[in-house]
Amino acid sequence: MLRRTVRAVGQWIVQFWADLKASTDASLLGVARFVGLLYGPIDRRLRIDEALRKALGYRLPSHVGWRHALGGITYLLFIILVVTGVLLAFYYRPSAQEAHPSIQHLVSQVSFGWLIRDLHVWAASLIVLALLAHMARVLFDAAYKPPRETNWLIGLLLLVVVLAFGATGYLLPWDQWAYWTVTEVLGAVAALPVLGAAAVEVLTGDEFVSGATLSRFFALHVIVLPWIAFALLGYHFTLIRRRGIAPPKETGATRAPWRLSAAWPEDETPDGVPFFPNHLLRSLIVAVMVLAVTVTLAVLYPRPVGELADPYQVPDELVSTWVPVDVSLALIRYVGPWGFTLFTLLGVSLALLPLFDRRPERRLRQRPVVAALGLTFFLGFAALWLAGRQLRSVPPSATLGQDVLEERVVPPAPGVPLPELGPTPQRPAPADSAARARGSP
Ligand code: HEM
Repeated sequence: MLRRTVRAVGQWIVQFWADLKASTDASLLGVARFVGLLYGPIDRRLRIDEALRKALGYRLPSHVGWRHALGGITYLLFIILVVTGVLLAFYYRPSAQEAHPSIQHLVSQVSFGWLIRDLHVWAASLIVLALLAHMARVLFDAAYKPPRETNWLIGLLLLVVVLAFGATGYLLPWDQWAYWTVTEVLGAVAALPVLGAAAVEVLTGDEFVSGATLSRFFALHVIVLPWIAFALLGYHFTLIRRRGIAPPKETGATRAPWRLSAAWPEDETPDGVPFFPNHLLRSLIVAVMVLAVTVTLAVLYPRPVGELADPYQVPDELVSTWVPVDVSLALIRYVGPWGFTLFTLLGVSLALLPLFDRRPERRLRQRPVVAALGLTFFLGFAALWLAGRQLRSVPPSATLGQDVLEERVVPPAPGVPLPELGPTPQRPAPADSAARARGSP
């Protein structure tokens, strides 16, 4: 009996392996069929089987390689952020009284809470690096040229959304570093001409960063930005399918086809390589590596929880916990405000590239201005990041000194809790509750 079972299982494995080798797309479908996912009424109505078979057999141009996995890495990090963010939201309490203790509770009392939080924090930095690497790949491959310029602009909006996610999330731990870094950044934004002051007023919702600001940042972080990000990602991926992957830049000056038609470009690369197994396996290898790096960083370098935010006490040091904060600190402290403006302008000129570089020429040597702009921006970012890491823990800037505190209402005498920023209300002790239940005062 045992021998027959072992032989049957062995035969099934041999058959399954033969199926796997015989057909590129049958294997994945085989697994799905085996666990009973695709058969039955759902598949008959929605034709999932057919759609999956078509997607796996989709032929990509043969020049698609490892560098084309950078967009996928960015997407994977985005998914890690969404999953860990939802888990964090189960425990996080978005009020000035409860935010800090809820994070402390999460990292010290909840099983693997520390890991979930540090995965979220590290993925927030890694996604910025992956995004910039993906953007550099697109720039140097001239993949922003028509007919892909809309996707370049959608990508830039995604970059802005990712930065906004980080900026709004930065305040949520409600510790001294988060509080005073956001105060410093909002002070710089308020100084910007035209819309700066109005934008800060809307974002802050108060005279200075307070519980009202925390509520607004939380709403943006978990409600507004995710919807915008999902919509932009959906459009980004749809355009990739519609326009196809850009041809290799070595093809030189080829006039890119300009089509408004919604037809999928499947037939344009009949000699290409199928998505499965080629690119899917490559993506899976990269995904495992990205996961390993993120988990390792989260375990080895956790983000500590600072002191509870105190709006009446500037801390002695600000610890940076996000790559763009490192870069901004390096710009402001080493180069000055005009350096910050120049670097931002360089980024904006890259954003506008598809508007003025519309020649069909794709070879990098024939595009010296684009090459110089791109190299200055990406190498500049890397250098500033490394320099900013040396400033990890710095005293707050002079603008956060006495003048900021003087504008604030004098805090009440010690022991009297502030209406919005006071300590967490303590739960009554069990004895008190029992007394109250009996009606005693
Ligand atoms: C959350 C952010 C983003 C995600 C998840 C994402 C994902 C992807 C993926 C999976 C691809 C196809 C494979 C590849 O070329 O790597 C792609 C292509 C593309 N992306 Fe992104 N991307 C993001 C942001 C950006 C940004 C910031 C830009 C540029 C400013 C951009 C511009 C493009 C363009 C033009 C293509 C087409 C490339 C080609 O045809 O060769 N994307 N993106």
